[in-house]
Amino acid sequence: MKSMEALKRFNLPFFLLVILICAVVSLLVLKDIYTIANKSNYTEQLSSEDLDFSNEENIEEEEEAAPSSSPNQLIEFNQGSQNRCDVMNGKWVFNRSLETQYTDASCPYLDKQVSCVLNGRPDGDYLHWQWEMDDCYLSRFDGADALEKLRGKRLMFVGDSLQREQWQSFVCLVQYHVPPKLKSMKHGRSLSVFTAEEYNTSIEFYNAPFLIESNSDVFIIKDLRKRILRLDSISKHARHWMGVDILVFNTYVWWTTGFKLKTTWKSMKNNDGYEEMSVDVAYKLGLETWANWIDSNINPNKTRVFFTTISPTHIRSSEWNFNDRDVGNRCYNETQPVMEKGYIGFGTDKRIMRVVEDVVGRMKKVVSILNITQMSEYRKDGHASVYTEYGGKRKQKSDPKYADCIHWCLPGLPDVWNQLLYSFL
Ligand SMILES: *[C@@H]1O[C@H](CO)[C@@H](O)[C@H](O)[C@H]1NC(C)=O
Ligand SMILES: *[C@@H]1O[C@H](CO)[C@@H](O)[C@H](O)[C@H]1NC(C)=O
Ligand SMILES: *[C@@H]1O[C@H](CO)[C@@H](O)[C@H](O)[C@H]1NC(C)=O
Ligand SMILES: *[C@@H]1O[C@H](CO)[C@@H](O)[C@H](O)[C@H]1NC(C)=O
Ligand SMILES: *[C@@H]1O[C@H](CO)[C@@H](O)[C@H](O)[C@H]1NC(C)=O
Ligand SMILES: *[C@@H]1O[C@H](CO)[C@@H](O)[C@H](O)[C@H]1NC(C)=O
Repeated sequence: MKSMEALKRFNLPFFLLVILICAVVSLLVLKDIYTIANKSNYTEQLSSEDLDFSNEENIEEEEEAAPSSSPNQLIEFNQGSQNRCDVMNGKWVFNRSLETQYTDASCPYLDKQVSCVLNGRPDGDYLHWQWEMDDCYLSRFDGADALEKLRGKRLMFVGDSLQREQWQSFVCLVQYHVPPKLKSMKHGRSLSVFTAEEYNTSIEFYNAPFLIESNSDVFIIKDLRKRILRLDSISKHARHWMGVDILVFNTYVWWTTGFKLKTTWKSMKNNDGYEEMSVDVAYKLGLETWANWIDSNINPNKTRVFFTTISPTHIRSSEWNFNDRDVGNRCYNETQPVMEKGYIGFGTDKRIMRVVEDVVGRMKKVVSILNITQMSEYRKDGHASVYTEYGGKRKQKSDPKYADCIHWCLPGLPDVWNQLLYSFL
């Protein structure tokens, strides 16, 4: 009897401890589930386009007949240091007389998802900010000149839906210099190609959200936990990059799931086998696979390579509006950039920034970095927000929690990314 009592006395705090642990664990799980629910909705938005790949043969043929010019002089920009200036050091200056070079009504190639004005965005200030760097001047994007520089060449953007936006922005910035009969657009599931016959040039987008292969490249797996990354496989995508004159890559947001990533290797015989890894470790291995491919396949006398850094997200309004207790407001209703110099939000994983710097820094071939992160961090006003599409329709849900604070309105910020790219051409 005595020993039973002793046991009970001992058990009571233990029992409480167990309850406490259970409570903490279930809180964590709940938080996780919330994150997954949230994320899976935004990934759905990331991949809303499910385009028909109807012209695969034509596109393949075009690739065989890749132009062979020598962009030697272009490479020097990055190597010669005196021309170089820090794009990240600058500020947004409001200029009412600054006009966009196209509208979502005048450019026929924009996804509904990012055509904010057509989707009903009423405020227009976000279109009149210009990026002024401390040490140098970013010249205006000249569409006719850009086409001239691309004459006889292929420019290809490779990556996720943000890269797709940069591609669409580029096409819209040049397309009105080409008469209707001399231009065409072919949409494919993986590859989409804008062609300007007169210039014998094509401006293309290749969809590869992780750059390396995964089981979610073409047919998107909604459940983030079922996605498996093949960290050492890239050739299925990379064969489409051969012979292109200017390649512009990005990859980031698909890696940031909030939990460990499932990864697999060629050497793993079992198809179902995978290893779980933290984001930064997996990202480093994936990016190294990409870097190795570039190093062993790119002829720098023919091809220039660019890498666009992290496009920031603005999902927590409490980060810039300290009075805002309602975390669900996201970037909804934002009409002004963040003014705090050097602002970096939580959505930008600094470990990933370092991985990019490190991996690219160790490459044998020159890769020019389009460092858009800092300038874009300020632009909480530039996102598609609620002026996007739902279920294929232009429709607003004026409910802050539906705001898309990952993608950007077009015209808008990605035009400035292209201004930067143009300055390298
Ligand atoms: C995700 O979308 C579904 C409908 O598509 C909705 O029922 C659910 O509430 C959304 N989840 C979040 C976290 O917004
Ligand atoms: C167009 O470019 C291709 C290479 O992409 C080249 O073979 C062809 O000669 C060019 N055509 C003209 C008319 O310049
Ligand atoms: C404002 O934009 C207009 C049109 O692009 C330009 O001519 C003018 O120089 C800009 N103002 C400043 C202060 O940069
Ligand atoms: C690139 O051009 C340089 C100078 O013209 C030449 O020495 C070098 O062998 C070329 N490299 C390749 C890979 O063709
Ligand atoms: C958004 O802005 C509108 C118009 O300024 C205002 O009526 C509304 O209350 C704002 N909503 C939020 C959630 O701040
Ligand atoms: C891009 O700029 C940020 C500063 O805004 C810097 O921390 C980062 O290392 C740069 N990235 C690369 C790849 O150079």
